[in-house]
Amino acid sequence: MCGIVGYIGSKPAREIIINGLKRLEYRGYDSAGMALVNGEARIFKCKGRVKDLEEMVNNSNFDGTIGMGHTRWATHGEPNELNAHPQVSYKGNFIVVHNGIIENYARIKSHLESRGVKFSSQTDTEVLANLMEHLYLEGDLNAEQAITLALNRVEGAYGLVIICKQEPDKLFAAKKGRPLVIGVGDGENFIASDATPIVEHTQRVIYLNDDDLAIIKKEEMVLKTIRARKIEPEVKQIDLKIGEIDKEGFPHFMLKEIFEQPRAIHDTFRGRVLPDYSGVMLGGLHNVLETIAASERIVIVACGTSWHAGLLGEYLFEEYTRIPVEVEYASEFRYRDPIIKKGDIVIAISQSGETADTLAAVKLAKEKGALVIGICNVVGSSIPRETDAGVYTHAGPEIGVASTKAFTTQVTVLAMMAFEIGYLKGVITPLLYKELITELVSIPGKIERTLQVNEKALELAQRVKDTHNALYLGRGYLFPVALEGALKLKEISYIHAEGYPAAEMKHGPIALIDENMPVVVVAVKDDTYEKIISNIQEIKARKGSVIAIVTEGDQIISKLADFVLEVPETLPAFSPLLAVIPLQLLSYHIAVLRGCDVDQPRNLAKSVTVE
Ligand code: G6P
Repeated sequence: MCGIVGYIGSKPAREIIINGLKRLEYRGYDSAGMALVNGEARIFKCKGRVKDLEEMVNNSNFDGTIGMGHTRWATHGEPNELNAHPQVSYKGNFIVVHNGIIENYARIKSHLESRGVKFSSQTDTEVLANLMEHLYLEGDLNAEQAITLALNRVEGAYGLVIICKQEPDKLFAAKKGRPLVIGVGDGENFIASDATPIVEHTQRVIYLNDDDLAIIKKEEMVLKTIRARKIEPEVKQIDLKIGEIDKEGFPHFMLKEIFEQPRAIHDTFRGRVLPDYSGVMLGGLHNVLETIAASERIVIVACGTSWHAGLLGEYLFEEYTRIPVEVEYASEFRYRDPIIKKGDIVIAISQSGETADTLAAVKLAKEKGALVIGICNVVGSSIPRETDAGVYTHAGPEIGVASTKAFTTQVTVLAMMAFEIGYLKGVITPLLYKELITELVSIPGKIERTLQVNEKALELAQRVKDTHNALYLGRGYLFPVALEGALKLKEISYIHAEGYPAAEMKHGPIALIDENMPVVVVAVKDDTYEKIISNIQEIKARKGSVIAIVTEGDQIISKLADFVLEVPETLPAFSPLLAVIPLQLLSYHIAVLRGCDVDQPRNLAKSVTVE
């Protein structure tokens, strides 16, 4: 949610931090702030975006060689300058940026108030800063001791970077339940919520673990637990290129990411498809494949778009492996003492690998004895580190808040898993296996062709951009696509939209249909094609206007619908990968035409690390 960047070295820190915050702004963006140390420590904070902060800091002409910045997504206290981070302790010694929630803040606050400590913001972070200050002054401690003691008293989650004014040659960083990555440079070090602000400076990183405390100086770094046990840092080489996190000429990250899907899907199956297309080999599942094949139940947990991919996972697994699947919202699963037995397989799907509810569901499933598999995009993130085995999607960084390539690559992984396990179980024949893999390999090319609907999607967007509501319908594999299409529209253009199984329309949504209600019907050719034609007729009979996603050359629906967008023909299992593309483009263009902030829609965050 919130984004953190810190720098300690010899270069001007201001620009490094501002650029880093811009890369992290997708995480949250209602206010921003920065601390720079140069003899004295100066704090800059404002409501709004990083560019507002940039203007403010640049106007001050102040710079330093140590500093830290923060973009905020409010949890405690409204987004304003006062509540923005850094939060400074009451005597000014501790300057803190924080991602997460201090759950017992109220108790600590009233204790500190009873000791005469005054608070100036509504944030839980200020409570933490003041607790450190209080312990520091009362106990006559050094900064590390005060921080360690404070962290042992708080409950909740945090990614923290702290500067102590009395020890200005250090950054302190601590993690529990929220990600923090240290970038190891030459005579300089970086810290951030994820690697995207770091990769332009160094490819050497250390992922902090829960309860780690790092004391970072220019030339050296000491890693300990918050119980003061020294740990040997494990430096990893990451393979993330700066070009992957630029817009590369596209007006928005979302559009770039939509157009990247042929490459992203290719990267997902690259090196995993056998040379003669006779099958796939998912290295990350090698040791657990037999166990999954022998299992009697799979539970998929995820949130948001990843949940929609999970729903497709259910259809794919049930068709190709005949293992029963349940798909759960991670937030529901984790709070209801779910029935998970030894031998059950739990698959957690998450682009970021950091979504708090999905991570908690993973931990719970592990406790209950399930074998837990992760399908994630961000390498080294928390979920892949918690799971027993997993498959990375390799989609490259997804910056646009509305997920696009993450979805199609997750579905690609789920399809490959289903085929590999189905083959192992003997549910699919070698012939069908090869047919499926051959088709999979053709998908990037077919998406390339599908992307040619862009102009038509724009034309359609111009017609429907002022609607207040929209209905999205689909059947079978296309029902989750309808859900995903509706979610995309809601997220970025703020138009109310609902996805529904087409046949369920008669049990409610049909009452909403009139000439003002655009109905998007995902109606590419598959086993339910005839049925969906009937559904379209039912809509037309009520004067609804039908926008249909159809297979190239469709003669029947093209005559019935008011507007059609075509996708190439493919096997039903892959139809979501094509059918979702026009829906992504449609919502993108509608949002742009309505003047919405496509990459950073209001109230949303890329990675929801609050529960
Ligand atoms: C947020 C994002 C969505 C994403 C969901 C799950 O709501 O805005 O785009 O689908 O979180 O995120 P995850 O990283 O777990 O896939």
